Amino acid sequence: MLNLSSLLNKFKNKINVHPHEEGPKDNRREVGMPIEPQEPVKDEFPNEEQSQKPAPLSSHLEKRLKIVIEHTVNPLYLELGAGVKDLYSADLDKSLDAFDKVNSLLEKTVDAILADADELILESLSEYPQGQEPFYFHVANVCIISAVIGQGAGYERASLIELITAAFLHDIGMKHDKALQDSGVYSEKDFESVKKHPVIAAEILAAFRKRLGQKVIEAVLQEHERVDGSGYPMGLKDGQINEYAQIIGLADMYEACMHKRPYRAKYTSLESIKIILKNKKIFSARLVKILIEKFGIFPIGTLVRLNTKEVGVVISANQNAPARPVVNIISDSYGKELKQPKIMNLAEASVNYIDDCVKEHV
Ligand SMILES: [Fe+2]
Ligand SMILES: [Fe+2]
Repeated sequence: MLNLSSLLNKFKNKINVHPHEEGPKDNRREVGMPIEPQEPVKDEFPNEEQSQKPAPLSSHLEKRLKIVIEHTVNPLYLELGAGVKDLYSADLDKSLDAFDKVNSLLEKTVDAILADADELILESLSEYPQGQEPFYFHVANVCIISAVIGQGAGYERASLIELITAAFLHDIGMKHDKALQDSGVYSEKDFESVKKHPVIAAEILAAFRKRLGQKVIEAVLQEHERVDGSGYPMGLKDGQINEYAQIIGLADMYEACMHKRPYRAKYTSLESIKIILKNKKIFSARLVKILIEKFGIFPIGTLVRLNTKEVGVVISANQNAPARPVVNIISDSYGKELKQPKIMNLAEASVNYIDDCVKEHV
């Protein structure tokens, strides 16, 4: 039996948090983020009126409700983050064994995503696990987000494994640069050396070209290229950029937006999507559309307040209605805790719509 009371308690101190708390102002640049400083993003939401039809609790939704409510860190996710740490710390010149381990881990991850991606999506957008180094889990998250976008783009399993391998290796060029790993930012004067990290990665991986394949190494080299030619290191454009690299670049920015950094708070999911849309000329429009369809504007685990002032947690995205996910209401319009799950499918309902992100994730 799901314990809604403990769920509400868990959220109580989050419910009054402003959706985006500004961190201290900082003029450094951030790896993977747009160069232009971001203006505060205003939340605007549709307020069209529709009639409400409560949705029945299917076994599919029951499972998602459990995933969100009983959120304990997924063991495969922890294994993935540990795998990144192992490989990034390994002396790759000496042994190929490190890649053997990674292969089976990545196959397992792709299979889990193909079977049911929601649990790993929830992890990839939640706070970094306590006591773990954020950098390695940033890479793990980019793996998951990239694979989910690849799945949305219709990739077969074999291509997903290549894509996730490139995502796994995408920041290996920072393996010797602890400062960059820790903050994800760099000063203007360091920009030229930062631009080299994809090249350093390609150099590290060159010895494994036969094993990894040209496409994977090319994707790692090109992950900071942008379709309008504004990226680095080569300033490539459109079709000159390997599609895996385009997916990883998009996943990298989305992941960065969805997590806090030492000098700023995290953005809400709505703000993150708006930042990406504001910078849409640097990404493929098709891939941005897939990202929004697969994750929704309010992804699984997002805590939201409806126009009715009820507070709920998103338990499932609706691919055809990204702003109207399935929500489990946890407190009523007066802030009173609900004793039973109250599932509302906003795609089918209603006069109800999401008014605000309360605080991002469970
Ligand atoms: Fe990078
Ligand atoms: Fe990255």
